[in-house]
Parts: sequence; structure tokens; C-alpha cells
Amino acid sequence: MKSTPEPLPQHLAFESMAYGLFVHWGLYSQLGKGEWVKKWHQIPMEDYRKLVETFTAEDFDARELTRFAKRAGFRYLCHTTRHHDGFSLYDTRGLNTYDAPHSPAGRDLIAELVEACREEDIVPFFYHTTLDWSWDTENCSDEAFAEYIDYLVASVGILCTQYGEIGGFWFDGNWSRKDADWQEDRLYEMIRSHQPNTIIVNNSSIGALGAVGHPDLDVVTFEQGRPEPLDRSGLPKYVVPEMCQTMNLHWGIGANDFHYKSPAEVITDLTSCRKVGANYLLNIGPEAQGGIPAYEKACLERVGEWIEDVEAAVYESKPCGAQAEGQDFVLRNPNTGRYYYVAHNLPIPQNNHVTGAMGASEGPRMFRGITAPLRRAHWLDSGEELKLEREGDDIWTLHATGYPYGTNRVVRIAELSDGE
Ligand code: GLC
Repeated sequence: MKSTPEPLPQHLAFESMAYGLFVHWGLYSQLGKGEWVKKWHQIPMEDYRKLVETFTAEDFDARELTRFAKRAGFRYLCHTTRHHDGFSLYDTRGLNTYDAPHSPAGRDLIAELVEACREEDIVPFFYHTTLDWSWDTENCSDEAFAEYIDYLVASVGILCTQYGEIGGFWFDGNWSRKDADWQEDRLYEMIRSHQPNTIIVNNSSIGALGAVGHPDLDVVTFEQGRPEPLDRSGLPKYVVPEMCQTMNLHWGIGANDFHYKSPAEVITDLTSCRKVGANYLLNIGPEAQGGIPAYEKACLERVGEWIEDVEAAVYESKPCGAQAEGQDFVLRNPNTGRYYYVAHNLPIPQNNHVTGAMGASEGPRMFRGITAPLRRAHWLDSGEELKLEREGDDIWTLHATGYPYGTNRVVRIAELSDGE
């Protein structure tokens, strides 16, 4: 039988962070057409670079960003430090002048971000591209590519040594030159020599959801996809699944993209990640000069209100092998031993005919697979006690009540405990 790797302490810590804010912001944000605008609108590099001259970052307030992240329930924040256009938001310390300190912004924006993260107790993660249009890494000669790798390693070296302890490094772009020698060993060894406990991610991309990459990586990515339960048997190392998603269909701000998620969708996406023990990294694309976009802010603060009511279930709890019906599922918090029944499709009873909540019902919900002596159940949001019946060794019925009129929290969570 193949053995299954055990999680390291940093994996457990990462899993308990559960919900991360992804932020894509850079020169491209000034055009409001996504972070790939240079490529898709075929803007020559010399024209694109002119965006540096107008990059003031005057609305970038790192503290406001981390305060927002905190209120909205995010425990980590993964910010672009350099994206495919090659422009760095951090001080490249002489590697080149294509960075924020050499723009009208005149500041090391990543230094500000990390400081603000520390103040709000949000764990900073760095997104860093590996694909770089300013080096033409997709097409350049192998020789030029090897030189680029030296530059990449030196760049990441700065991020590893100048900003204190970093929660994780999130790489993206190896998929753009699949057969190239990306010297991953070298990059990851360098990182570990400075940041031994950091989480290292390298996005396997949309075409390879959940693919296990280099043996040193800590995460498997599900870009815009649904994570599946992970079978880790035979893997060299424990990996944490992480699903990343956009709020509309762009990472960098798409000012004309109205295809937004609602708070209800974000809540169900978050719970569907937790159902399989995955983290959820949800993206916003700030405005031209760094302001937080209004819709995303309002939407995610709503989700934050929901999280506040159900915290005990969201961050630390994990899949426990119990089976429920439909979209429902049960988690267990390994630190407290409590169980959480996650209930979907509950009605607003007095108003069914008006809201027409399709398929919503209250009443008995059956689940099985828990032998612990459960005695008490209550909704986390209201504290209302619920009837819980045992029907055999491991079969249970929770009598779910609907929302009181005037309320609908999309997903409701009941804590199940032995009554202690
Ligand atoms: C894709 C895109 C990139 C984005 C990333 C986030 O790889 O190329 O623009 O940053 O997904 O997951």
C-alpha cells in the first residue's frame, strides 16, 4: 500500500487560514481591461511602458486594503508583486528601473503592504510571475532564458530577504514555456534557505486543475475550478488544495466586465472549498491607482458578516468522512472535537410564495458516519436550539428550521456537540 504524507505545521496553519484575498494590480490596471491587455490588445512594449509615467499609486492605501481584508474575513492576502508585464511593485534594488520606486509612485508598495498586513494580522503572500513579456520569455533563446532565470531568482531573493517572514510565494507562468528549464530546484532551495516555513505555490493553470507539480511545492491549484477531494497517497509531500477565482471574469480590473459573483455565490464557493478541505483564494482587481473597487468591497464585506457568525466552522474545521444529502455536508474541528452541519436551501417560511425559493425546505436532514456522542445542536448565527436524533450507531437526523422572515444567510451552519 502506498503511504500518505503527513501535513507539516505550515500546511496545517495554511489550511486554517482557509480564505485568502488575491489582489491583481499593476500598470495594466490603468487601462481597466484586465492584466493581459498588453497581449490581447497587442500593445508594443515601448508603448506599454509609457504606463509607468502615469502610475502614481495615489489611491493605494495598504492599510485600507488590509483593514478591508480583515473585515471581510480573509486571513491571508496574496498580492501581485510582479505580473506578466514584468513591472515590479517592489524595489528591485538595482536589477532594473522598471519598478514602482522609479515611477511617479516613488514608493516600494510591497513594503507598505507587508507592514499593513502585520498591523492587521493578515498573512502576506507574494504572487510573482515567471512568464515575463519584458524578457519575451515565451520566445527568447535558451541562452537568454537562462539569463532570465538568474534575474528571476535574484528578484525573488529580494522578496525573501527584505520583507521579513512571508506566508507564501505564489508563482505563475511555467505553463507558458512547458519544456523549458525553469530551474525550479534552484528557485525553491533559495527560498527555503531564507524562508524555511513558507508555503510555495506554482500555478498549474486552468488546463491542469489540481495537478501535482514539483515535489517541493506545498499546494495544488484549482484556477477557476472546483476542487475535488484530494487523494494524497503516494505523494512525496503533503499538499493543500487551493481554488482561486475572479470576482468577474478578469484578474486585473475589467472595468467593463459586469459578470460579477454575488455574496451568495461567494458563500457557496467558500463552503464548497471547505467541504473538501481546500482553501479559497478570491481575487479583486483594484482601480487604476490602487483604490478598492466599490462592488467587490460591498459584496465581500457582506460575506464577511456571514463568516463572523460561523467562524468556528469556516477556518479550522475539516472534512470528517460523514455523509449528508444534497449540497449539505459535515465538518469537524480537530481542535475542539465539535462538528458542523452545513445546511443549504433553507426557506424563509412566512414568505415562501413571494421569494419562491426553489427546492428550499425545512425539517429533517439525515447524515451518517459519526459515532461520537452528539447531544446538542444549534444554529451558529442565532443560537436557536435544534432537535437532533440518533437512529442507530452512526445515523443522525437534524431537524433544520428555516430562516426567520426578513433573513436569508444563504448557508446556515449548526454546531453539533456532546453538550459540554
Ligand atoms: C492565469 C493568468 C494570470 C493570473 C493567474 C491567477 O495564470 O495568466 O493573469 O494572474 O491566472 O491565477
